[in-house]
Amino acid sequence: MICVPITEATQAEAIGAILRIAPVADAIELRMDLIRDGDLPHLIDAARRASDRVRVIVTCRRPDEAILPVNADPAPRKKAIPKAAKMKLLKETIRLGADFADIELAEGEKSIRTLLSFRNRQKSKTQIIVSWHDIVSTPSPARLKEIFRACESTEPDVIKIVTMAKTPQDNLNILSLIPYAKARGRKIIAMGMGEAGKLSRAMAPLLGSALAFAVLPGGKASAPGQLSVGVMRRIQNLLGNDFPRTQHPHPGAEEAQNFVLLGNPVRHSLSPLMHNTALSAMNLKGHYSAYCVTDVEAAIAGIRGLNIRGASVTIPFKTEVMEYLDDIDPDARALGAVNTIVNTNGILTGYNTDWLGLMQAIQDVLTPRGKTFAILGAGGTARAAAYGIAKAGGHPLIVNRTQDKGRALAAHFGCPFYPLDGVGKIKADVLINTTSVGLYPQLSVSPVDASILSHFAYVLDVIYNPLKTKLLRDAEAKGCQTISGLEMFIHQGAGQLKLWTGQDAPVALMRKTVRERLEAIESGN
Ligand code: ATR
Repeated sequence: MICVPITEATQAEAIGAILRIAPVADAIELRMDLIRDGDLPHLIDAARRASDRVRVIVTCRRPDEAILPVNADPAPRKKAIPKAAKMKLLKETIRLGADFADIELAEGEKSIRTLLSFRNRQKSKTQIIVSWHDIVSTPSPARLKEIFRACESTEPDVIKIVTMAKTPQDNLNILSLIPYAKARGRKIIAMGMGEAGKLSRAMAPLLGSALAFAVLPGGKASAPGQLSVGVMRRIQNLLGNDFPRTQHPHPGAEEAQNFVLLGNPVRHSLSPLMHNTALSAMNLKGHYSAYCVTDVEAAIAGIRGLNIRGASVTIPFKTEVMEYLDDIDPDARALGAVNTIVNTNGILTGYNTDWLGLMQAIQDVLTPRGKTFAILGAGGTARAAAYGIAKAGGHPLIVNRTQDKGRALAAHFGCPFYPLDGVGKIKADVLINTTSVGLYPQLSVSPVDASILSHFAYVLDVIYNPLKTKLLRDAEAKGCQTISGLEMFIHQGAGQLKLWTGQDAPVALMRKTVRERLEAIESGN
């Protein structure tokens, strides 16, 4: 079972997190010590409404056994919740029929027994977890067994022992508790926290630990070293398939693999034309369709339910979609935007091929290393450009109309900033327009004056409708080499097809097809 902790600071945020997490996790842990105004009946109710199979653990962790979530805002409370209030909450947990109530061994045998007999009297199905945490180190194997036996003597349903792992050996020490518990017929949750403990997090479920804690990408970890749900499931699938989730077999390679575009609006998108042309040239069954989305969370659930193999994500969902995925590729995470989703046996991973497409368009014409690139704009496309250029050894500089926004992006990449009206002072190898100035129907508008274009050897416009923007026409007239936005569009699409199918896409055919359609649109046919 994979459990995602709910560590949000307020009731409203916690409900939001539950609605997102409950459909993808096997269990959620309500950290009532962190959810300040947490109203237990409503939280449990939200979980039940979000999923009829998710299990609910209620925990009110003692401060001396808790590691506070990183970057928590506002700072979580550090004061202990009074014992009487905690017991009341755990009894309420039992009355409400939550699946598990967690109480620390440190609360004393009397309190634990009180809770167990209350549960029995109530004939509640709530299982009692007796837990012990060392947030600083991992004790010796002998000491760990003593602690285990102390927990065992209170006769709980589940024993949970979590320590801070500092060395590879600590992983083995904590993991050794699992076979020990099994031999004594006890259910156990055991793992090591911290970077060094990641190994034990991955291995514990395979050895028989009843629960593994994980986070959603972008979610707040409740302890250091927590892996994402996607990574955890992948480990299980690769090594043991210990935690099968309610899922039906994935279609085999011979069956149709379908793809979708999620955006709003999508009516004028050329992605379906480009991808369907490519899919038939690649002899692949399956179809690519565009959907105008109003609820991105529901759209992602649809991808899972319909076994859609992959998706393109476009404006305005490239950032929002991230929180609904199981895993995010490091480049997409660094960019804070996903334009591609790959569905591998129900695990959705987000990627970004926008920056790759832009870099491929540039690299087809020049070598970026050591060259200077003036980037017009400070939005998502400018960020992707600066990221790719810096990664390829080039030197970006940001030029933007709104100075604060431009300065912030430049500061992020440690590069110079120029206000748009100072663009004439810049001398760079390449000028890249990422603003929407010159987009159809603005056929006679350019983001910069034609007179400054002689300062650049190359000019790239990310706009591909029209194929030749006023900026590119001016640049050609000044003798610059130009790169059309069509190149970026084709290469980002080819990057998607490679991720979805593992095969190289027919780039020349895709370019020809989209170019012809754009020319037809421009000539009014
Ligand atoms: P994207 O994610 O595609 O990059 P965006 O986030 O909307 O799109 O960013 C568009 C960029 O184009 C912004 O930097 C914007 O400048 P401001 O920060 O000043 O708003 C720029 N832009 C849009 N219209 C513009 C115009 N008429 N003149 C100059 N810059 C413009």
